[in-house]
Amino acid sequence: MAVTKLAYQVNVNYGGKKIASLQLNDKTHLLKLEYVPDWQQTGFAISPSLSLDNQHSASAVYNYLDNALPEGEARTLLAENLGVSEKNVYSQVNALGNDLSGAVTFSSSVSDDSLNQKATLRILTEEELVARLDNKEEFGLLTWDDKPRLSVAGVQDKLNVFINDEEQIGFGDGSLCSTHILKFEKKNCPNLVLNEFFCMKLSAAVGLPTADIQFRRFGQHPSLIVKRFDRRYIAESSKVMRRHVIDGCQALGLSRYHKYERNLGDGRDVKHIRDGVSLEKLFEFCKTMSLPVESMQWLINWQLFNLMISNYDSHGKNVSLFFDKKHKRFTQAYDLVNIAMFPQFKHVLAMAMGDEFEPDHINAYQLADFAETCHINKKLLSRLLISLADKVIYQLSSGVLIEHLKTEPFIQQDDISIFEALSENVLVKTCYLKSQAAEIETMSV
Ligand SMILES: Nc1ncnc2c1ncn2[C@@H]1O[C@H](COP(=O)(O)OP(=O)(O)OP(=O)(O)O)[C@@H](O)[C@H]1O
Ligand SMILES: [Mg+2]
Repeated sequence: MAVTKLAYQVNVNYGGKKIASLQLNDKTHLLKLEYVPDWQQTGFAISPSLSLDNQHSASAVYNYLDNALPEGEARTLLAENLGVSEKNVYSQVNALGNDLSGAVTFSSSVSDDSLNQKATLRILTEEELVARLDNKEEFGLLTWDDKPRLSVAGVQDKLNVFINDEEQIGFGDGSLCSTHILKFEKKNCPNLVLNEFFCMKLSAAVGLPTADIQFRRFGQHPSLIVKRFDRRYIAESSKVMRRHVIDGCQALGLSRYHKYERNLGDGRDVKHIRDGVSLEKLFEFCKTMSLPVESMQWLINWQLFNLMISNYDSHGKNVSLFFDKKHKRFTQAYDLVNIAMFPQFKHVLAMAMGDEFEPDHINAYQLADFAETCHINKKLLSRLLISLADKVIYQLSSGVLIEHLKTEPFIQQDDISIFEALSENVLVKTCYLKSQAAEIETMSV
């Protein structure tokens, strides 16, 4: 009996100590997260909707955990492998609990002393990875040695890995966990990785805080190696330190099905329903962050850059925050992709500018409407638009960015034409947006 009861409870840990328990009610299947008294006094709520007074609802706990898990095919595979429904987030979190986004871990042992455990590294050789990538449509990338190794959200093909200073790649356990995310492309999205590489490098080149990335080919398979901003490897002690982060859905207390502002889709009868993550909600949330003015500025630049590069898929899970006792501020940008290059994807903005979801209808009026809706000073918006546009235009029209990309490892001659097409597309869009800047102030919405 006692053993059965134990199966319905896991410890929630932070920095090697238990801060809460997560319970699944065996009759109702409702979740409960209960902070321990010490953490209630000295700690912080791991998400705004999981308040320290333990008064949050079961659905708030469910949404928090559901948001932390993989999406798409990997999620289906994870549930299938565990023999549970996708809705059973408790079991899935249990399986991935040592390596989810952020610093919180879930474990059934009494105390989480993973930091004091031995570091173990299961090396992933290039041959092994290439062999799996050759067959990934059939077998997926989730499971290695019967253990699930993809433990972040998102629908693209990915894998969490540990990479050390000698650039060995593998799966870390004990005091180690993943430090990087390898991103790949599906057959129906050729050049997605090069596209993301270009957009991320452009973002960094114009001075926007951007996740560190590298491009690499494993065999024929292009891959983006994304350095995790919520992990830091300390080689001297063979430990990986974690930093707590939450994504936009978690910050706003919304389910993962609310990652698009039009949470019910853009069908004729439901497109007016806009209960998902929106720019308006995110700007409102900025007021609760450590540095509200800087956070708003970060968000304005993020959105303007998304428009310039045609990253229509900048939804509520493609923005994250460091979220701990000291800091509530945006992380570096990630998942920046020019969607205009893919006719097979929907060309609809994840979040409206004012009331406009159509990317090609963003003019001075929509920019002014965005400013009013999100309580942004129009003069400031105009100034930031011109400033960012000038930097983007310089990087692209001078050829500086592409010259730099040519020197990056694994970049081949054929890749340059992809960069050139991207550069042209972004340049045209950016020049157009810049041409609208002067009128923003004079627009009455
Ligand atoms: N550099 C990073 N450091 C830490 N976490 C990250 C980083 N980049 C991405 N993540 C986390 O991993 C998740 C998946 O990454 P990403 O958005 O790049 O994948 P994706 O599959 O392309 O997503 P989508 O479904 O939006 O296309 C993100 O939602 C975020 O929580
Ligand atoms: Mg994403």
